[in-house]
Amino acid sequence: MPGYRDMGVLVRLLFVLCVVLFAQSAWAVEGSAKQAERQATQPLNNAPFWRDVRGGENPYQTTQVRGVETNVLVQTEGEIWRQIRNGPITIYGGWLIILITALIGLYYSLKGPLKLHEKPTGRMVERFNSWERIVHWTTAISFVILAVTGLIILFGKYVVLPVLGYTLFSWLATLAKNLHNFVGPLFAVCAVLMFVTFVKDNIPKAHDWIWVKKLGGFFGSREHVPSGRFNAGEKAWFWIVVTLLGVVSAVTGFIMDFANFGQGRGTMQLVNVIHAVSAVLFIVAALAHIYVGTIGVEGAYQTMRTGMTDETWAREHHEYWYNDYVASHGSIGGAPGSAPSTAPASAMREGWKT
Ligand code: HEM
Repeated sequence: MPGYRDMGVLVRLLFVLCVVLFAQSAWAVEGSAKQAERQATQPLNNAPFWRDVRGGENPYQTTQVRGVETNVLVQTEGEIWRQIRNGPITIYGGWLIILITALIGLYYSLKGPLKLHEKPTGRMVERFNSWERIVHWTTAISFVILAVTGLIILFGKYVVLPVLGYTLFSWLATLAKNLHNFVGPLFAVCAVLMFVTFVKDNIPKAHDWIWVKKLGGFFGSREHVPSGRFNAGEKAWFWIVVTLLGVVSAVTGFIMDFANFGQGRGTMQLVNVIHAVSAVLFIVAALAHIYVGTIGVEGAYQTMRTGMTDETWAREHHEYWYNDYVASHGSIGGAPGSAPSTAPASAMREGWKT
């Protein structure tokens, strides 16, 4: 049986408990009284309540649902993310893509394609072997799918929705999202293969600086600028875009694609912003690469399509690579025994002046 003293302690404890409970309910009553008063004077203004909910810190915001941030009903940073994504990224990203496309169009209409000046000799040089072309086109096709579906996800509601309407656009957007999520990992693997395959010919060399200073002969007098297998422009594309932006886009893409490693909303929002910025910059740079690789430089597309290029093309665009090729191969496809002309491309300078 508890003794007299124990009873005293018990009573005091009970008293304290009652006081606490009373204070709490008084506080709660006071709180709800304040809320009721606010509903009368400022209908629907529940700011303190929602501030509490947003904070996610109040002791009442608990949940049985397991998982990351399941007790955070409203995540304030989400609004900041939404404003950045739908604000500067969409506006400046959109205008940048339009601007670069317009500049490429303007350049093409003013200058036209970079043409060969000497006649093709008909002797062919192997520029890309079949492995290099397989890697290139798998990367290129997966990239184009990612770029188009990514643009639909980012700009679709402004550009495509008004044309297609809600039903069709929701179909297209769902298809785009799923294609993007599945092709993303494929592109990442291809980008690694691309790096391993082409890195040895993208090491910067001293003569690249001459190419940079003359902007590759694309502007002004369009004079010929000798280069190795890849010129400084292609090397910049390889290191800054394919490698650096490739890694950033792939890593942030994986974090969003596989959201089962405890990523919180804050993390997803941050990588989404980084992904969108790096992807827009990648697309802008790829527009220039695709222009040069299709209509911008006569004969370029064929080199990656068939792997072969004419001796004149090789000499005029990649003189040092051509000389090395001749030195290592001795003769070039064409009439047997017909020695390749090793006259330096500079001797053809006259031909470059349009
Ligand atoms: C439809 C899209 C594309 C077209 C038409 C295209 C066309 C070409 C052509 C013609 C070449 C050979 C240029 C030469 O002989 O020097 C080339 C090289 C190359 N392309 Fe593409 N390409 C496309 C997309 C891509 C994409 C998406 C990537 C990377 C993500 C890429 C990465 C490369 C690389 C790394 C090279 C080798 C040159 C270097 O290493 O700098 N291409 N491309």
